[in-house]
Amino acid sequence: MNKVDSQLLVIFGASGDLTARKLLPGVFVLHQKLLLPHNFCILGAARTQHTDEEYRLLMKDHLLEELKDKICSPALVDSFLKRVFYLSFDSNDSSDYAKLKEKIDILQQQKKLEDRILYYLATPPIMYERIPTFLKENGLNVTKTHDGWRRIIVEKPFGTSLDSAQRLNKHLSRIFQEKQIYRIDHYLGKETVQNILVLRFSNGIFEPLWNRNYIDSVEISATEKLGVEKRGKYYDGAGALRDMIQNHLMQLMAFAAMEPPSSFDPERIRDEIVKVFRSLHAYSEKEMNSLIVRGQYQGYRNEPDVSPTSNTETYVAMKMYIDNWRWSGVPFYIVTGKKMSEKASEITINFKSTPQQLFIGQCSGSSCNKLVIRIQPDESISIKFGLKVPGAGFTVRQVGMDFRYDSLSSESLPDAYERLLLDAMLGDSTLYARSDALEASWSIIDPILKYWQENGEKGIFSYDEGEDGPTERRTLSIPKETWTCELNNK
Ligand code: BG6
Repeated sequence: MNKVDSQLLVIFGASGDLTARKLLPGVFVLHQKLLLPHNFCILGAARTQHTDEEYRLLMKDHLLEELKDKICSPALVDSFLKRVFYLSFDSNDSSDYAKLKEKIDILQQQKKLEDRILYYLATPPIMYERIPTFLKENGLNVTKTHDGWRRIIVEKPFGTSLDSAQRLNKHLSRIFQEKQIYRIDHYLGKETVQNILVLRFSNGIFEPLWNRNYIDSVEISATEKLGVEKRGKYYDGAGALRDMIQNHLMQLMAFAAMEPPSSFDPERIRDEIVKVFRSLHAYSEKEMNSLIVRGQYQGYRNEPDVSPTSNTETYVAMKMYIDNWRWSGVPFYIVTGKKMSEKASEITINFKSTPQQLFIGQCSGSSCNKLVIRIQPDESISIKFGLKVPGAGFTVRQVGMDFRYDSLSSESLPDAYERLLLDAMLGDSTLYARSDALEASWSIIDPILKYWQENGEKGIFSYDEGEDGPTERRTLSIPKETWTCELNNK
């Protein structure tokens, strides 16, 4: 594996939840795995007043809490925190950037850092334009050495519509080149998601079947038991379509549906992702009613910071089609929802059944054979097929062959942020969204949002907690919900 170069990670929004719960724990694990060079530092910048020492103490508590069973020795936490510095700084105030520049210069000199800076925008999205603008005004977006660099990681949501995503892309492209911009989608940092590419493209057995001749449908779902918790303000303006589908689930779809890239080069992989989004069938108004079901859980309107008349969807199930030779006519069912019966993300490939039913108990219709990629929890890959029940006759029973990730190693799977941060430090953008793909995915989602907005409350169905969405979802005939073989055979 490539080694991380000497560099400085500057986190804007350093007193926020994301930094404490994901970013610093992610970098700590890299430190513990000895993946960081000795001249690597982190500078947290946020409005709250702290000295370096106060900030370290605060972060120490978070690290101990977040990484309870993962810390090999307390001394490692102390050695890690020596790399962490803090600047009280108002990212909204252009004059504060001189202070930032000064602190960066001092750190680079004192800690003998190379002129390589990775910026992380862990701030509210309203700052995604402003911070880069002020960085540019202060010359912080360019390096003066030939082997130095600047990179910037931008958190989701990247825009709230096609228009705003395009504006943001355009703005950032005036300050950084595309290869310097890393748009993060934490789903792509999940080990099981990356394994979709390896499963598909390193095994000869799946790819010949991976098309409309053998696949009946594909289901991609990410359900949660929790509601919006304390995020009502953000969520009420976003909704499930923007929050989960435009980014996470569409990226999963692209990994499941893309053509084999010509090489494992980041750009070649991202070329294939964009092709999937550009081939997506755009919904007509009629199809928006017949192929998409949206719901809102009971009690959502009473959640803190949620409008009492809100029409925001907390559940979406949609049937999508990819208009290309591989997938023509194969429905992709995309489902997400809050306050559902379980927290689970998975991709299910439903293969076509045999042309004739010879046996008792054999599945008919679609889905005797499935490949289930369980992304979380209980990360696993299973193949389902029919086998004869021992004894007289030829009765079929559905069985499964399972691979569980925890059988590979006793170590827990790396957190998504750990992997993604490491990739950005190394300059590998494979698992980050490219501007063209982002805009292509927005161009499918945007008309749906507009249509919903015009229709207000009409067409939003309510569901009870734990109910797995509104009953109207049944009009889509989602295979997982209609498939009864397994139950019959129990
Ligand atoms: C985030 C969404 O991007 O993903 C949240 O904003 C959602 O609403 C979360 O809960 C789900 O992520 P995960 O990794 O827990 O499936």
